[in-house]
Amino acid sequence: MVVAEVIGIGLLGVGTVGSGVVKLLQENSLQIARRAGKQVEIKKVLEQDLEKPRLLGIPGELVTNDFEAVLKDPEVQIIVELLGGSEPARDYIKEALSRGKHVVTANKDVVAAYGEELFEAAAAGHADFRFEASVGGGIPVIGILKESLAANQIEEVIGIVNGTTNYILTRMSEEELDFATVLRAAQAAGYAEADPTADIEGYDAARKIAILASIAFNTRVTPDNVFVEGIQKITPQDINYAREFGYVIKLLAIARARDEEIEARVHPAFLPQNHPLASVRGVFNAIFIKGNAVGETMFYGQGAGQMPTASAVVGDIMEIIRNMESRSTGRSACTCFLEKGIRPRGKITSKYYVRLVVKDQPGVLASIAGVFGNHQVSLASVIQKRTLAISGEMMAEIVLITHEVQEQNIQDALTVMRGLSIVSSIENLIRVEGSR
Ligand code: NDP
Ligand code: HSE
Repeated sequence: MVVAEVIGIGLLGVGTVGSGVVKLLQENSLQIARRAGKQVEIKKVLEQDLEKPRLLGIPGELVTNDFEAVLKDPEVQIIVELLGGSEPARDYIKEALSRGKHVVTANKDVVAAYGEELFEAAAAGHADFRFEASVGGGIPVIGILKESLAANQIEEVIGIVNGTTNYILTRMSEEELDFATVLRAAQAAGYAEADPTADIEGYDAARKIAILASIAFNTRVTPDNVFVEGIQKITPQDINYAREFGYVIKLLAIARARDEEIEARVHPAFLPQNHPLASVRGVFNAIFIKGNAVGETMFYGQGAGQMPTASAVVGDIMEIIRNMESRSTGRSACTCFLEKGIRPRGKITSKYYVRLVVKDQPGVLASIAGVFGNHQVSLASVIQKRTLAISGEMMAEIVLITHEVQEQNIQDALTVMRGLSIVSSIENLIRVEGSR
């Protein structure tokens, strides 16, 4: 097959990222053509609102609301899916790949949940399938894991991969605001979506760490395999106590190789103030990767936004064009050639911060320590922070940090504690990462 001088793109969706791709292909067209070796031209655009692409200067005759028209256009060699959501994106990508069209997507929902079947379709159609923008926006972390660090056994991947939650936690921490106030500000500023559930409850980060873990550990990890907790229960008190102990609170997406198992989880965590990820503020993302040869590395940048995400999408388009030119497309085989088990949540080990309110009377601390001891939970520090009156009764707020312990043990201990008359409430439990 002779590679055409112009490579035709079928663009699905010209929302935030899609219109960024149009802009970037226009603004940097000469450089992109020189580096890729071919000119890149948009040949078809799929949109629901047919007026939207015209506002970006795309001629009306290229615009359609019928996917078949994009798929069957012989001038379209690469389909760029930027619709979002699972359906119909999943069907469109699968159909395109199995028909031999190369595909670029930024869609973490689809890649995380259906990666396996999409790679099968790519293999069947001898097509390239690339998804750099699906994790970390403009940060080229997929390429780093698949190529630059390929010689390593990856030991751990820890990411701040959700900008919305990092923005909220940063403002809560720096301005001593509560969660609801900052969430409203984030929505007003356009950082958080009108329905921010997937961000604040951790599901967006879970999809991203599922993708990174699958590549890092050569084993299919789907969002269902990731233990997820969001940031909605974090209070200014927790942030202040974290600071007193020398930590910051971040929503971390963690994947680790543990013997023959993989541990994958997303939750808020105490992180030592001197950890490289602790200084990642606002909507920025960063991914910390430890490999057995390279040691500790960290990649930082804008994890979302129109142009950073378009940067990754267009980079993928250019890589496919180079593959077309060297006749080496169709090699995007699934990297999941192992079938390691997923470590069950109860077997995960961590240190824990626990904040609880108990009756302020002699012997209470000893009783609590006894319950922890009965469940093999060893305490590193226990501090009585303040007394408060609840319904006329004096209560004490106790804050403690444990040594490393299995999740099941601490959960069992807390279940027993909730049944004790001396315990008014378990206010929060936050995992502690790393050591100061
Ligand atoms: P937008 O909602 O801004 O854009 C999607 C566009 O596709 C809209 O114009 C939408 O039209 C159109 N569309 C949706 N479904 C269909 C359909 N079935 N047929 C035709 N047109 C359709 O999303 P984004 O650009 O923000 O995101 C695109 C993808 O990129 C998502 O997968 C997202 O997760 C990912 N991503 C986004 C980032 C960002 O910063 N925004 C960062 C990293 C990844 P309408 O508006 O009429 O529904
Ligand atoms: N909602 C995501 C975030 C954006 O806040 O990081 C893109 O993945």
